[in-house]
Amino acid sequence: MGSIDTVLFELRTFEPSRTFAAEAHIGNRLEYDTIWRQAQADPVTFWEESARNITWFSRWKRPLIWKEPYAQWFEGGTTNAAYNCLDRHLKEGLGNKTAIIWEGEDGSSQNLSYQALFEKVCQLSNVLEVKFGLKPGDTAAIYMPLVPEAIIAMLACARIGVVHSVIFGGFSGPAIRDRVQDAECKVILTADVGYRRGQEIELLKTIDSVMPEMPTVQNVLVLKRKTDTVLKEKHSDWNLLVDQEAKTHFPKPFDSEHPLFLLYTSGTTGKPKGIIHSTGGYLVGVSTTAKWIFDLKTTDVFWCTADIGWITGHSYVVYGLLSHGATIVLYEGAPFHPHPGRFWEIVDKHKVSILYTAPTAIRAFMRAGDEHPRKYQLSTLRLLGSVGEPINPEAWMWYHTEIGRGRCPIVDTWWQTETGCILISPIPGVTTTRPGSATKPFPGILADVVNEEGKSCSPNEGGYLVIKHPWPSMLRGIYKNPERYKEAYWTKFPGMYFTGDSAHRDDRGYFWIKGRVDDVINVSGHRLGTMEVESALVSHPAVAEAAVVGRPDPIKGQALVAFVTPRGDETKVSVKELVRELKEHVSREIGAIARPDEIKLTRTLPKTRSGKIMRRLLKDLAEGKEPTGDTTTLENQALIELIED
Ligand code: WTA
Repeated sequence: MGSIDTVLFELRTFEPSRTFAAEAHIGNRLEYDTIWRQAQADPVTFWEESARNITWFSRWKRPLIWKEPYAQWFEGGTTNAAYNCLDRHLKEGLGNKTAIIWEGEDGSSQNLSYQALFEKVCQLSNVLEVKFGLKPGDTAAIYMPLVPEAIIAMLACARIGVVHSVIFGGFSGPAIRDRVQDAECKVILTADVGYRRGQEIELLKTIDSVMPEMPTVQNVLVLKRKTDTVLKEKHSDWNLLVDQEAKTHFPKPFDSEHPLFLLYTSGTTGKPKGIIHSTGGYLVGVSTTAKWIFDLKTTDVFWCTADIGWITGHSYVVYGLLSHGATIVLYEGAPFHPHPGRFWEIVDKHKVSILYTAPTAIRAFMRAGDEHPRKYQLSTLRLLGSVGEPINPEAWMWYHTEIGRGRCPIVDTWWQTETGCILISPIPGVTTTRPGSATKPFPGILADVVNEEGKSCSPNEGGYLVIKHPWPSMLRGIYKNPERYKEAYWTKFPGMYFTGDSAHRDDRGYFWIKGRVDDVINVSGHRLGTMEVESALVSHPAVAEAAVVGRPDPIKGQALVAFVTPRGDETKVSVKELVRELKEHVSREIGAIARPDEIKLTRTLPKTRSGKIMRRLLKDLAEGKEPTGDTTTLENQALIELIED
């Protein structure tokens, strides 16, 4: 496997502090090693025991039915995700406990108790069932800013068995249309505007711009944040409808395998895939990992900075945390607005004890300067987490020193939209960490690194990251696309789940994740398919062909570089103008996150004789390197000619 090299060697190690270990749920290394070994030998029993942490309406008959590539977990068991996040805490007397601390960008904040959250969810469930006639198995889209109502929307759907599809608030009209139509959503829950970087984000207008192309949508429920927003046909006023409803609602039991949500994510084709997650297995996965990896206590204030539009928001803002009756922080604004110390101000103000964020944010804070976090009291922090891409050791050390003040363990958590919950991570009270390594698989997760033939690699040999046994929160398929599900995850190595990531294991068995081996790249912790951006580019009338590659970026992890061949010999406008127009075009088609950082106009694209674009060569060019490696299969031998003004 010459193509995957091991480049990262990091020798610094950090032991869990004695004080942290003494108070941790899991603080005894010997005991943990025993649990871990038993779970690796018998994952099903481990997960069956973990399943006791959630409330079931009826107990399962069989813990796992595995017919590759389809798993059913806790077959015959019934539960309700919203019940687990709300009702059961009220029964335990936690009604007055704060569930959500919401912070607006302007500094306003609002606390919502479990009792208040419960009532709001019940009212909305009633609206969806009675006013809109939604039935279990129907789908609804949620396109909302980070306000408590976004979580209320998810839980209300879950309560009545409606499958939610949360669409990130930064996506544009065409991206919403594609997702809503693929999932055949009957209802969209949204707000008129969101607030970010001091600006209004026009969510409702974005939806309206594609309403005629979404025939399945019968109702749009609008949270009005501005009094002068005018509602049109198919729109209903959220507050008006909700206020007419009772504050109670009977939660129906759903089969463990009943789909809880769809979440669209990028793959290697131009079309995003609707990842399906189940109810019972998903809840078991997220609640168990939340407790062990974040060492969650009843007194914690947990802030995961992800948007609910991504899996991290689903699992570790909403379901994993609320299922424990935890107090979470939700911040609507941008990290640097209105000043570079905003995050640390929030940690200080709300006494955050656990912070979970992405390497791209950590690197941006690092660049902004140490003086910003130093202005604030960060003494309530006791644990830090990282997710979304490999964290480089420098950023890890900065996070440890400047934010954790040398006191807080760091959990570098590896997982994916498809895995539902964290699969590789330190357990903070027992694992010795090494900056840049996600360390070891969670108990019951049989992760391995294999070579092209599917054989386990030797220590320090690079290969493909795979999972060799099903786990409860694994995806149940791709919506309406069983073929793609098999092809993407179960074909490369029969009997193993293929993650699409490359990795190596060191001689202590620690995993070091390098990044994607397919045409998916991680930009600012968000997954983007290069094909998606390419399709958006070629949909512009001036573009004949496009190829998009990733280039390492000191802040974003990877930056998007597009090579574009314009139609015709000459471009009508100047190169600069066309480049600007194409960047705008991609933002309009997908959203600002997909906007290429650089566009190079070329007369041709390098192709093999069979017509495949040679991305490897483009990658070298994007990085400003001389193309390396074998180019003998290159059809148009002449090097790519850039068109410049
Ligand atoms: C990458 C995000 C290294 C990886 C939860 C994976 C990571 C993709 C880590 C999934 C990590 C996530 N170290 N790489 N700790 N966490 N990744 O679906 O490439 O948005 O395949 O899920 O992010 O991205 P997704």
